[in-house]
Amino acid sequence: MDTDLIRKRFPALERTQDGKPVVYLDGPGGTQAPDTVIDAISSALRDGISNLGSPFAPSELSGSIVAEARAAMADLYNASPHEIAFGQNMTSHTFAISRALAATWEPGDEIVLTRMDHDANIAPWLRVAEDRGITVHWVDFDDYNFAPDAFDAILGPRTRLVAVTAASNAIGTVTDIAAISRRVRQTGALLFVDAVHAAPHRLIDVKAWDVDFLVSSAYKFYGPHIGILYGKREHLQSLPAYKVRPAPEHGPGRWENGTQSFESLAGVTAAVDYLASLGTGDTRRQQLASAYQAIGAHEARLTERFLAGLAEFDHVQLFGLVEGDRTSTFSIAVDGVANQAVAAKLGEQGIFVTHGTYYAVEVMESLGQSGLVRIGFVHYNTPGEVDAVLSALDALS
Ligand SMILES: Cc1ncc(COP(=O)(O)O)c(C=O)c1O
Repeated sequence: MDTDLIRKRFPALERTQDGKPVVYLDGPGGTQAPDTVIDAISSALRDGISNLGSPFAPSELSGSIVAEARAAMADLYNASPHEIAFGQNMTSHTFAISRALAATWEPGDEIVLTRMDHDANIAPWLRVAEDRGITVHWVDFDDYNFAPDAFDAILGPRTRLVAVTAASNAIGTVTDIAAISRRVRQTGALLFVDAVHAAPHRLIDVKAWDVDFLVSSAYKFYGPHIGILYGKREHLQSLPAYKVRPAPEHGPGRWENGTQSFESLAGVTAAVDYLASLGTGDTRRQQLASAYQAIGAHEARLTERFLAGLAEFDHVQLFGLVEGDRTSTFSIAVDGVANQAVAAKLGEQGIFVTHGTYYAVEVMESLGQSGLVRIGFVHYNTPGEVDAVLSALDALS
């Protein structure tokens, strides 16, 4: 992977502050977009799009944009296009599915949530559990990961759902979804996976993982602000969708409330194609698989460099795995400097990091923290940028 060439594709990376290039280390909050994504969105608007289902060209264009985006996301998830539904963001999808699933549950049924998750994969489930008299069981984490048997004792004959993240947006831990899925399959429960943080870092495979639902957001993997739901065909068809009556009765359109953002869908396809262009292979899926290997290798090098630098500091505490499967996302605290002040001081130097809970409120509570500082590297970040943030942190001692 040629990072110099890659960076040239991202106009936002040319931003300067006080005459110096800025350093975007807030990828976990949202990545920047490459030229082809920007062009695809503006072309859709420029060419003329209109609502679906009319016998004229702009309407047909919207129809083909939707079909192409479903096919692209099917390749990204290893799913079929009719198992892909679009919506405003991951949070909206999760509220919609939780409401529909809960309508099929009985009081006294049980669900399993984890403390590793973003609140978007917790609050919707808590809300419907309260509405329907459902018992909630929690899976804790220790040493920044789940214990191998963490789900065992909690799963039972009345478990209806396990909701778990594929990677933590706060501490970067990558969870073993395939192993969790094997365990869940021994019960009648469904598995709902939040892949928002995993999507820019790891190849998703809903078939190999055998999940019932999986959600992500394109703005975390170089696309526009839009959410993408995968659901097994039988679930998308049989669950009671809360929808307007004229909306489709069959297929993923049951889950797409109101008019979709067609221009964003054009951007979704371009984002998947951009990722695929980083790899090689005969099919887009093969290219994606190879691209994620290259992305993973580059991000692992950045991780190693960052962790080696942090190890030199006494005044910076890391909250996350040093060894083990993790993304290049780090939560830290600096002795004697408030999190907000750390982010502000780095921001003054054009180094963009965020602070707070990043909505991972259960993670923070488990760590005994009210918030932390998050530094996230993605595939367009460079070793020089790792050094820049290390030296800015050094200066805070
Ligand atoms: C892991 C994770 N899950 C869910 C969300 C919520 O996604 P959205 O903004 O698409 O609703 C985020 C957003 O930061 C996230 O990082």
